[in-house]
Amino acid sequence: MNTNSKPLNAYGELAGDIREILITSEQIQERIQQIGALISVDYAGKTPILIGVLKGVLFFMADLLRTLTIHVEVDFLAVSSYTPSTRDQGLVRLIKDLDISIENRHVLFVEDIVDTGLTLNYLMRNLRARQPASLEACVLFNKPENRLIHLPLKYVGFDLPNRFIVGYGLDHRERFRNLPFIGLLKPDAL
Ligand code: IMP
Repeated sequence: MNTNSKPLNAYGELAGDIREILITSEQIQERIQQIGALISVDYAGKTPILIGVLKGVLFFMADLLRTLTIHVEVDFLAVSSYTPSTRDQGLVRLIKDLDISIENRHVLFVEDIVDTGLTLNYLMRNLRARQPASLEACVLFNKPENRLIHLPLKYVGFDLPNRFIVGYGLDHRERFRNLPFIGLLKPDAL
């Protein structure tokens, strides 16, 4: 399914590595509008703090924020996975902490993708320890097949099969974040 207004070959040198467009830019934007409308109702009058993890959440956070019709604040964390094997255990190192206090504040944790759930679980525990008034998760791309930890996700954009995706902020070795759609890589690009 490709309802993108632009054909794949409009993406220049990036196009050669993409096997298929899985979710078009238009589908992403439409879903974000719907999620933003829900958040605007659920958090009306509460001025929540939206917290994202750099760098993958860059586009989602920017687009989601612009759909909201309520007052919000925004802050970011940055994490670094130790190694591919410790990452499998959900061990992440905080390399940039929040700038603002979240104590007694309503916090919405905004994530681009959840796979095993280990990273989100670690970060949600870290945030919960700071005693926010409430803490919920909003995830754009959910890959439930590999989930190792059950996590309640208040807002989910798309449930996806267990395939490695790139684009819309998601990278493969730091590349492909700049694609406006979600794509699958050709095997020789992996
Ligand atoms: P977790 O397995 O839920 O802890 O996810 C760990 C991290 O792996 C995510 O935050 C992403 O950075 C990355 N990740 C998982 N699946 C994908 C994917 O399909 N494409 C790009 N990055 C992914």
